[in-house]
Amino acid sequence: MALAREARRRAHSPYSGLRVGAAARDVEGRVFTGCNVENASFGLTLCAERVAVVKAVSEGAGRLVSMAIATDRPTAVMPCGACRQVLTELAPRLRLIVAGRGSRRRRASVRDLLPDAFGPADLP
Ligand code: THU
Repeated sequence: MALAREARRRAHSPYSGLRVGAAARDVEGRVFTGCNVENASFGLTLCAERVAVVKAVSEGAGRLVSMAIATDRPTAVMPCGACRQVLTELAPRLRLIVAGRGSRRRRASVRDLLPDAFGPADLP
């Protein structure tokens, strides 16, 4: 969570004003961080969770086991639907720990957050 909060400081979010940081850990203990990166063409915005997981894949991470997510809202903000879909494919057994500025943390698994997900097995 400390690394997620540090990554949050690097958020590029001039349009929404929301800062999000994420830190994913693999089975070997390597950590991959991400922050949200917005664009004036709003639909190109990348969420912190997807930045972290894509960095992990591109850097050769092992199986991802946990991800801390930190926003600057008073309470925990859970991942958006697009991130749930991407995490389901790239880190299906991931456990999430989510915090806002306060001390209360929420915990969830990716499977909890996107039950009955569409995935590779559904393709012809
Ligand atoms: N955002 C994230 O980084 N993660 C989420 O799960 C929800 C939304 C970012 C994207 C955008 O920069 C801002 O929060 C507002 O949607």
